[in-house]
Amino acid sequence: MKNFKCALGVVCVGLATQTNAALATFSPGPSYSVGIPSSSTISQTSEGGIYFQLSAPTSFQWVGLGIGSQMAGATIFVMYANGEGNVTISARDGDQGHVEPVPDSTLQSGVTLLAGSGIVDGQMIANVYCTTCKLDSSKSSTTSPWICAWNVGSALNSASVSATITQHQEDNTRQFEFDLTAAVLSSDSNPFVSSSVSSASGTKTGSSSSPTTTTINSGSGDGAGNTGATVVGPSFKVITDYQTAHGVIMGSTMVLLLPLGAMFMRLGASVYLHGAWQLFALCAMLCGFGLGIKLAQMRSLLYNTTHTIFGTVIIGLFLLQPIFGLLHHLQFRKHQSRAPVSHLHIWYGRALISCGIVNGGLGLQLAENSKGGMIGYGVVAGVVGLLYLLLVVFKRKGVKGVDDVGRQRRVGGRRKREGAENVRYG
Ligand code: HEM
Ligand code: HEM
Ligand code: HEM
Repeated sequence: MKNFKCALGVVCVGLATQTNAALATFSPGPSYSVGIPSSSTISQTSEGGIYFQLSAPTSFQWVGLGIGSQMAGATIFVMYANGEGNVTISARDGDQGHVEPVPDSTLQSGVTLLAGSGIVDGQMIANVYCTTCKLDSSKSSTTSPWICAWNVGSALNSASVSATITQHQEDNTRQFEFDLTAAVLSSDSNPFVSSSVSSASGTKTGSSSSPTTTTINSGSGDGAGNTGATVVGPSFKVITDYQTAHGVIMGSTMVLLLPLGAMFMRLGASVYLHGAWQLFALCAMLCGFGLGIKLAQMRSLLYNTTHTIFGTVIIGLFLLQPIFGLLHHLQFRKHQSRAPVSHLHIWYGRALISCGIVNGGLGLQLAENSKGGMIGYGVVAGVVGLLYLLLVVFKRKGVKGVDDVGRQRRVGGRRKREGAENVRYG
């Protein structure tokens, strides 16, 4: 049975029972395990000892594990074949975001490849001890954010810790959480080998002739073999679908639907068309909001970035706008002139639409949309904004025969013009 599993390349060697080892494990394809000695000083702000294991069949070109919720800002470890029957573990810095993580010599100086590492029966294993690592959470967090990614392909066969790696596919990444309370090690020694040989911990070995017995955590696809781990980030494909849906709905609501609805009033359309159109836009906005919340949850961006905070405030404030519109309409029907609530409705609406357009730009930046996408958004917003401005300047007057009324009153001078602006739609 054991051989059968090994032949499949998904499971393990490992008869050793761990006496001191409680490991949290995540196996989305490759398998990742983490254990933290109870005595470790590791936290979000201080470095300390942490053990982790990366394992995957040799059909994987490289396998990466990162501490953090996304590439940007993560502490990343990449394992690949070193060409001599062993593996290389490369410590890198993901600060730049969606580009190849940069080898980090300071981080690397505290990284040790432990006993049990190597390539055994077509399985690459890196048992690692790191003393220069920090977490992205406390060490007792039940929702500690981690990421992983991998690439399938021919062996890199490089012993250099700064070997160039090629980008993973969109689907070969995961964002997940470790329950670190399920990863407490009672002693500060290699938890990946049997306790009888755990004194080997710290040796920079890894050859297949290693006498140690290594436990490799099994895993074959999402959800399999997970202990104390929860996927929080679905595949990037799902995220980009949400980004597109949220971005298209929100972007076109702010840049097209709402300004067009406002322009209708300038063009003498009925208040009912304006009201119904804007209410439809408000519904679209609420759908986009729901998608935005879900997206922010998946990306760990809920209320820790300007776009999501500002966006929520804007949407909340928009909900008041139909009330002002209705109040204006009702009072206009009575008095045939604008009241303070009319100006509130008009200027509040214009200000919110402008803020929404700016926030859409922040969203594009956050999602690292393409330059073309950003330019397209800017151009549409600019053209619509200009048209609206032109209408505001040149279509200032009454509902019917807008220009005629306007011209008549302009002749009469400034006071009358203001009066005409006052007597408008409703
Ligand atoms: C050459 C190296 C790498 C490049 C150029 C790269 C580039 C990218 C890009 C462009 C994305 C956006 C989605 C996509 O288009 O696929 C992404 C997402 C991601 N990458 Fe990488 N990556 C590299 C290495 C790594 C490594 C070593 C890890 C291991 C931890 C990793 C983990 C992730 C994760 C978890 C995501 C989704 C979350 C996020 O957006 O940060 N990547 N990467
Ligand atoms: C989210 C919903 C709404 C938004 C964003 C909105 C926005 C606006 C904006 C920006 C203007 C100024 C247009 C201009 O430049 O002339 C305006 C005018 C107006 N709105 Fe709304 N509106 C909304 C809902 C409503 C509703 C529900 C009603 C009435 C039932 C209404 C009634 C009016 C009227 C009568 C005017 C013309 C005011 C005047 O020029 O004297 N609006 N609206
Ligand atoms: C004024 C309202 C908003 C507008 C106009 C807006 C618009 C956008 C746009 C255009 C994008 C870029 C999408 C892409 O490039 O594919 C985006 C991304 C995003 N938005 Fe919004 N949004 C708004 C409000 C919100 C709110 C309220 C939330 C959540 C609470 C939110 C969460 C997000 C997230 C998480 C991203 C993607 C960031 C990433 O994946 O890196 N947005 N938004």
